[in-house]
Amino acid sequence: MSSSDVNTGRRRFLTGAVAAVSGIGGAFAAVPFIAAWTPSERAKAIGAPVEVSIGSLEPGQMTRVKWQGKPVWVVRRTEEALASIRALDAKVRDPDSTADQQPAYATNELRSIKPEYLVLVGICTHLGCSPSYRPEVAPADLGPEWQGGFFCVCHGSRFDMAGRVYAGVPAPTNLVVPKHTYLAEDRILIGVDPENA
Ligand code: FES
Repeated sequence: MSSSDVNTGRRRFLTGAVAAVSGIGGAFAAVPFIAAWTPSERAKAIGAPVEVSIGSLEPGQMTRVKWQGKPVWVVRRTEEALASIRALDAKVRDPDSTADQQPAYATNELRSIKPEYLVLVGICTHLGCSPSYRPEVAPADLGPEWQGGFFCVCHGSRFDMAGRVYAGVPAPTNLVVPKHTYLAEDRILIGVDPENA
């Protein structure tokens, strides 16, 4: 695939991401004002933590926000998805998350603080496309072994429901888990470690 194809893919993602988060509220309400700010104020706003409401997220659903200019996903995993992660250790490249792709508090089998909720930066670790969320099991286009996860259409990288990269695909490492903390049962703050919240 040429770099222009990749760029086109990224442009498409950015357009989609802006559309996807436009209804999420508070975190994005300030965007129209950013243009009037000084460069340092703008930089601070772009790097600021972003709060995500997860109260209405049903099992299997994903919500998206933008943090530091990057897409961040929060997925509410089903019991079946959690079981699939445990069964896939032999098929993923770094089952124990030994690479530094997550904070210490998410360096565990499910790569999360709470088993049910997965928080990821939605950027492929190969060349930076944004993978698609494909929670369905064994869809026709991904084959009988697919147990749900994230598929990067740019060069075919596959990640499981913990964002762990499958062996034998172009992406070298697991998807990144960003710093995050729970402000309440139904609210997550992206960009802040629990001890600093
Ligand atoms: S960018 Fe190449 S597989 Fe995702």
